[in-house]
Amino acid sequence: MTETVTELSDDVRALVDGIVGRLAAEPGALLPILHAVQDTLGYVPKAAVPQIAQALNLSRAEVHGVVTYYHHFRGEPPGRHVVQICRAEACQALGAEALLAQAQTVLGCTAHGTRADGAVSLEPVYCLGLCALSPAVMVDDKLHGRMTAQRLEAIAATWSTA
Ligand code: FES
Repeated sequence: MTETVTELSDDVRALVDGIVGRLAAEPGALLPILHAVQDTLGYVPKAAVPQIAQALNLSRAEVHGVVTYYHHFRGEPPGRHVVQICRAEACQALGAEALLAQAQTVLGCTAHGTRADGAVSLEPVYCLGLCALSPAVMVDDKLHGRMTAQRLEAIAATWSTA
C-alpha cells in the first residue's frame, strides 16, 4: 500500500482524527471507527487507513483487510445516488439476480461500480431487513419492496442530471 496520511485533506484528516479520538478506547474499536468514517464521508478513504491503523496499534494490512473484507465499506466515494440490491436468500428466491442484471442496464453501471458520470453507484448487499417484500432495494437510504426494473428505471428518471 502506497497511500500516506498526507494525501488526506486537512479537513478529512481532522474529521478522522475526531472519530478515532472518540472511539479508539472502546473494545473492538476498528469497526465502529470505520462505520463512523463511512457514515460521515460516504466512504473510507484509502489514505485514512494508516492513520486509523496507527491509532489502534494495528498494521495497515489489518485495517485494509477489514475494509476490503466487508462489502459494506467503500474505498472510493460513491455516486450521487446509491442503489443497493439485496442478494440474500429471500430476495434471490424472488428474482434478485435477474433484477441486479437488469439494474446494471437500467442504471448504466456495473455491480460494485459507479457510473462514469458519477450519478449512481450500484451495490449488491445481503439482507436489507425487508425480506417479506422481496426483492428489496435501498435507494439513497430509502427502502423499496417488490422492486422491478421498471420501478427502478422510474426512480432513476426522477434524479436530476446536474
Ligand atoms: S433477504 Fe432481501 S431483504 Fe432480507
